[in-house]
Amino acid sequence: MRPIVIAANWKMNTTPADAGDLARTIASRTRVAGVTRVICPPYVSLATVRDALVGEDVAVGAQNVHHEPAGAYTGEVSTAMLAGLATWVILGHSERRAYFGETDALIGKKLDRAVAAGLRPILCVGEVLADREAGREIAVVDAQLRGALDGRDAAALAAAGIVIAYEPVWAIGTGRTASAADAAAMADAIRASLVALGWGSVAEATPVLYGGSVTAANVGDILGQPSVDGALIGGASLKPDEMAAIAASAGITAAARGLAS
Ligand code: 13P
Repeated sequence: MRPIVIAANWKMNTTPADAGDLARTIASRTRVAGVTRVICPPYVSLATVRDALVGEDVAVGAQNVHHEPAGAYTGEVSTAMLAGLATWVILGHSERRAYFGETDALIGKKLDRAVAAGLRPILCVGEVLADREAGREIAVVDAQLRGALDGRDAAALAAAGIVIAYEPVWAIGTGRTASAADAAAMADAIRASLVALGWGSVAEATPVLYGGSVTAANVGDILGQPSVDGALIGGASLKPDEMAAIAASAGITAAARGLAS
């Protein structure tokens, strides 16, 4: 049975002075049976958020990690530095790809490093608008998955609890969401890609999240799709009212799937 996951990606928002209160407020307002909750603050707030969440069943994630274990990489953060601070990590976010030149090959190396460190990866994939308008969104996402996952051990990635997040670039921060049917179709396509990569039954067991302008208003339709297992939330994840309603919706999905008991 795949879990229902709601993951907050705060991106480059909040400061250590306010992140703890925000995390605590969100945690207290999103307690819903059967839903796995993750908050991914900026690196500098990981410790604050971890401390704020003591006693709450909310995991802390990093938004990125470097692929090398240590060395002369000014400004970067290694998996060893995240020990005790984060248990999840977002990898290959489209903003990392677009603004920091991350390639599928690099993201694959980060996956290896994250898994070796016992971090649970959220691997992000998604097409730009021109790809969707040209009808090649599935081919683009398939190539991203292949580029990051080909040759890697599906069993090890499954044991690490890998989650795939489908985030169409044109839907991120734009207020424009993929239709629930399009999100579901891509989740199915992602699992088909995993099968083609030799993942076998691990493909069906891999959670696929949707991300891109998720709000309380649209999450219900998206989570109503049996192939979609949760959401990666940007802008709305900074708003406790939104997160409370998103979690409530996720709880309905969890109950419907028999996860809530
Ligand atoms: P928005 O929810 O702000 O569109 O961001 C989505 C996202 O990129 C989450 O990783």
